[in-house]
Amino acid sequence: MNQERLPLPEAYHGGINFAELAALGIDPDKVIDFSSNILPDGPSPRVREALLKARIDRYPDRESAALVGVISRVYGLDANRVMIGNGCSELIHLVASAFLNRNAHVLVLGPTFSEYERVCKLQGCQVTELGSDPSEQFLVSPSRVLQTLEVNKPELVWLCNPNNPTGRSIQSNHLLHWLDSFPRTLFIVDESYIEFTEALSTVIHADRPNLIVLRSLTKLHAIAGLRLGFAVAAKELINEMRMHRIAWSVNAMAQVAGAAAVQDTDYYQAALLRLQFEKKRLVASLSQLGFLSVPSDTCYFLLQVGDSSKTRQKLLNRGLLVRSCDSFALSDFVRISVRTKSENDQLIDALVQSRDAGWK
Ligand SMILES: Cc1ncc(COP(=O)(O)O)c(C=O)c1O
Repeated sequence: MNQERLPLPEAYHGGINFAELAALGIDPDKVIDFSSNILPDGPSPRVREALLKARIDRYPDRESAALVGVISRVYGLDANRVMIGNGCSELIHLVASAFLNRNAHVLVLGPTFSEYERVCKLQGCQVTELGSDPSEQFLVSPSRVLQTLEVNKPELVWLCNPNNPTGRSIQSNHLLHWLDSFPRTLFIVDESYIEFTEALSTVIHADRPNLIVLRSLTKLHAIAGLRLGFAVAAKELINEMRMHRIAWSVNAMAQVAGAAAVQDTDYYQAALLRLQFEKKRLVASLSQLGFLSVPSDTCYFLLQVGDSSKTRQKLLNRGLLVRSCDSFALSDFVRISVRTKSENDQLIDALVQSRDAGWK
């Protein structure tokens, strides 16, 4: 038995908490979810067609070769550099188990997605967080990052670009400069939300020995229930991660659904344009009503509400779920994912009514 278990933080995420809704007597299907950053239009119709044809009476391809082929063609990548995972979440765990030893020194640019720190703690690593400043609207300062890299010399760095929950992004020229200046540091760049941004600043095509790029296929492609993501990295790094996988972790339905989704670029491009337009309208409407939001490069944004968990609870009682930012130590903010026009209008009304009632 392991005598040295470290206290682990509870995994806290957005999305529907089914036990909570059961206790409140709320039907999950009646909740509008502004808390998980998923395309509100849902998946391409081709995904459901593909699912009907999935072979579930045999084990899936452990290498997801057909899906790797589709992804490498659509994204212009060498197939040897691509690995599929059971959501980006599995790939985050694989990075930690493949590359982090006990007491390794890791840097996280925060506030950010909590799984990075959690997997590091599971491995017994020492984690340093370099926080961005709310008074600077959470903009990442490249010179502070550079300075921290020089002083701390971490073995591994987690960067979420654009960042969850702030929606802020880092330009690829800064990332490339850090990669080249610190060749002994492994950089993990989580681009799960990059396809929602208007000006893509991806490093997915940067072929560097110390870079792993992670992508989720659950968010833009709206198949969160199926669990799918991919990693792009040097062949040696990919091979190392493959050694740490659970066998058959990517099921047959996820593989065919992913291939259908990734190929239907017309559907997702059209939905994305609608979402980007709607985001501008929602943010402008809230601003006109006196709400303060943090400028965001992606499909969600932070809204200043005073008391995050109270606001979440008030809205949930009305069937509207937003992400409380308490777990990011941002108890002033909720994170809102843009949805359709009529859903966003319901949220605007509820926010105004709650505020006018003194958030009671
Ligand atoms: C930054 C970030 N990376 C990865 C994930 C997990 O993605 P997936 O659904 O592909 O496991 C999330 C989910 O919220 C996230 O916010």
